[in-house]
Amino acid sequence: MNLEEMLRAVVMVLVVLKSVSGMGSDAVGGDIVASNYMQELAPWPEDNSPLLVNFSLKINNIVESKDKQLGVIIDCYFRVTWQDPRLNYPGSPDEGEIIINPVILDKIWLPDPYIFNVRSVQGVHILKDVQGVTISPDKSVFISSAMKIDLACSSKFEKYPFDSQICTLAIFSYMYAHPSFAMRWLDRGLVVDPAVSEQLTNYEYSFNIIPQNITCTCYACIPPDPPCVLASLKLTRKMMGYMLGTFLPSGLFVMVSWASFFWPADVIPGRTVLVITSLLTLISMHTAVRQSSPETSYMKGVDVWMFICILHSIFTLFEYGIVLYLMKRQKVSPVSKPVKTHQLVTKVIPVKPQVVKEISAGVDVPEERSQLKPEEKLEKLATWFLPISFLLFNIIYWPYYIT
Ligand SMILES: *[C@@H]1O[C@H](CO)[C@@H](O)[C@H](O)[C@H]1NC(C)=O
Ligand SMILES: *[C@@H]1O[C@H](CO)[C@@H](O)[C@H](O)[C@H]1NC(C)=O
Repeated sequence: MNLEEMLRAVVMVLVVLKSVSGMGSDAVGGDIVASNYMQELAPWPEDNSPLLVNFSLKINNIVESKDKQLGVIIDCYFRVTWQDPRLNYPGSPDEGEIIINPVILDKIWLPDPYIFNVRSVQGVHILKDVQGVTISPDKSVFISSAMKIDLACSSKFEKYPFDSQICTLAIFSYMYAHPSFAMRWLDRGLVVDPAVSEQLTNYEYSFNIIPQNITCTCYACIPPDPPCVLASLKLTRKMMGYMLGTFLPSGLFVMVSWASFFWPADVIPGRTVLVITSLLTLISMHTAVRQSSPETSYMKGVDVWMFICILHSIFTLFEYGIVLYLMKRQKVSPVSKPVKTHQLVTKVIPVKPQVVKEISAGVDVPEERSQLKPEEKLEKLATWFLPISFLLFNIIYWPYYIT
């Protein structure tokens, strides 16, 4: 009994001594986290002003994630700072920021940021998690950690590949609510490394802070409208690759199929091969395009283009089919007629040439010199009609999709 009481007293004395020594060494070398520090409670400012947590992002790299849905992986330094007056600054005030070991993060209160719209967040781990903590004389804690944020983007692909997608980065407070808690971007809140434009080869990007809304609307969240900071990344596809790889070749193949109009209609294998080959090439081109483009249940801009190209190629094929049919019909039927006219003409030969003309006009003899056969008429019509319709389509298509 006595021994126990004595031990208790000794322990009490030791505790008191320790706290006294902790208070005494407030200026230099003391514990940053005092023993009576309550990690569970936020450092609410005494004047009832909101507790400000400030963010900044330094973006080192943006990579398109190879997923069916468009997304980007943002390689960044994620920085958070807030003031916690309960901490002890372990230096003399003129020393400025002091770097401290990140193990302290297990002992102090931390804000609870949550990134909306995110598919995954990964810290970077080399020897240990890559992060740094500093504390300033005004008791501001500053944490910087390297991380990869896999951000989902909007997926409106109606105009693909002329679309631009917006990826919104929304950092919410998960639990702390307005007005006692607020989030801000730091002055240079969002810095993008200029080298990003070289790494993100398929896109033009613009990454901007969305001007401050104190709270964000959040459907059925608790608390209702959490404090937040917003930034938006707008990605616009670079067109050159699609132009050279898809639009130009497919347009050219449509033109190649028109070349068949200038080939004699009776070279059946030659013309058929030409038209069928360009049709098949267009179809296989479309299949390849579909495989590399996002999956949608509606027609994208590139699908419309390929569809019209294939349609023009099919028209060319049909036109040739009709020409062949007309030629065949002509071979069968009109043989008898000219014979009759010839007979008629031979009979009338003794009469004056003028009369011959009148008679033949009356009998409705086909004028063989100037009158075109139906298949020739069709060829002539198609030679004009298909290019003009393709041109019209282009006049409508390009302004509609490139805006
Ligand atoms: C956070 O930002 C606000 C205003 O932007 C500023 O007044 C405040 O001092 C900042 N807090 C910290 C800890 O940097
Ligand atoms: C931000 O505020 C503006 C009006 O002040 C509002 O139109 C906009 O929807 C708000 N944004 C969000 C994400 O709540």
